[in-house]
Amino acid sequence: MVETILGQQMSSLLILNGPNLNLLGTRQPEVYGATTLDQIETLCIETGRKAGCNVTCYQSNHEGELVEAIHAARNTHDGIILNAGAYTHTSVALMDAISSAGVPVVELHLSNIHAREEFRHKSYIAPVAVGQICGFGPKGYVLAIDAILDHLEKSR
Ligand code: DQA
Repeated sequence: MVETILGQQMSSLLILNGPNLNLLGTRQPEVYGATTLDQIETLCIETGRKAGCNVTCYQSNHEGELVEAIHAARNTHDGIILNAGAYTHTSVALMDAISSAGVPVVELHLSNIHAREEFRHKSYIAPVAVGQICGFGPKGYVLAIDAILDHLEKSR
């Protein structure tokens, strides 16, 4: 929460993107589209501004850095939108970080992971997330921000 000059509480969200998402725009555009990560982050900041919340964006290709970002969010953010990329399907460490930090997470994927290879159907994030949004491309980030703000509002 960030206190504004008017004394109102402003929610603070972390948009956390994992491995290979820095290559969006050129990476398998037939699967992930032509939008770059920069454009997605601008969209998130703009969506946050319209909704009256503060949005911070961070991307890392390293599992440990993503774990640390989730830990740090404990004291700085009210919610996280997480696209963990391939770590979604492998990382018990990210699952444990989410459980330990106690910050609500919405799991996000650009592609519909359930319509792809079998190994992408398994998510270690899903059991510890508020919910999952996938298959809507960059629009998914807008939906995820709306969903987490709704969740935060209801749990106040
Ligand atoms: C992804 C889906 C993952 O399976 C994949 O490893 C990614 C991107 C998505 O946004 O659709 O890196 O998270």
